[in-house]
Amino acid sequence: MAETQPRIVIDAIDVHYGAVQALFGVSLTVGAREVVAVLGGNASGKSTTIKSVLGLVRPTKGTITLDGAPVNGQRPDAIIARGVASVPEGRRVFPEMSVYENLLLGAYPRRREARELAGDLERVYDAFPRLKERRAQLAGTMSGGEQQMLALARAWLRKPTLVCIDEPSMGLSPRFVDQVYEVLQSWKAQGITILLVEQNARMALELADRAYVLQHGRVAVSGTARDLASDPQVRKAYLGAA
Ligand SMILES: Nc1ncnc2c1ncn2[C@@H]1O[C@H](COP(=O)(O)OP(=O)(O)OP(=O)(O)O)[C@@H](O)[C@H]1O
Ligand SMILES: [Mg+2]
Repeated sequence: MAETQPRIVIDAIDVHYGAVQALFGVSLTVGAREVVAVLGGNASGKSTTIKSVLGLVRPTKGTITLDGAPVNGQRPDAIIARGVASVPEGRRVFPEMSVYENLLLGAYPRRREARELAGDLERVYDAFPRLKERRAQLAGTMSGGEQQMLALARAWLRKPTLVCIDEPSMGLSPRFVDQVYEVLQSWKAQGITILLVEQNARMALELADRAYVLQHGRVAVSGTARDLASDPQVRKAYLGAA
């Protein structure tokens, strides 16, 4: 695979939920090692876009390719098996399982590489001392911020080359938001490709290379993160500028 081949190409997709149309001709690309943010208000279609890439919803029109091969009609597990990790909206940890068990589940596809896995688990515990301290605690009793860290650590243990993340800062205090973004920054430095859905445009635009703004299921604006951060309309609508 050429380094220049995009990881994700979404080409003019429509998505319907029954009679409701959620996406209208959305196109978006994510290059290798790129961080791309999808911004927009509630119900603008951000999660639907990410779910389309993961095979959780099927576009009624248009195509999606991952590393040059179509994903249309593929099941989520087949897509995940192509090196993609997902950090879904609302973290989705297994509440009745311990922190340690949740981490092991993240590493499940790698169960044969026991020794390497032990090293990676140590690295996770170094990066997230709280998870080490709390490894026996039931995940459902962790705070929202702790659960988000667990969801990120679990995704990283799969050794993904591409991660799809839906609103990692939702409901977190500024301190935890900073921690989440430190993790994402380190993933970017490791060369992991990131498709990031966020309402927190300020944080997302600091991290991202490029961004797309969705409005009512359509791409309203797109460009480099730097250009969008200084775009008057984006600043007014999403960055709280006058
Ligand atoms: N399973 C579903 N069934 C019916 N409609 C749905 C379903 N999922 C999403 N929708 C609708 O599709 C539209 C886009 O939803 P989506 O979840 O993609 O928005 P979003 O931008 O992620 O919003 P939020 O910021 O609130 O998470 C909304 O109008 C929503 O009601
Ligand atoms: Mg959403």
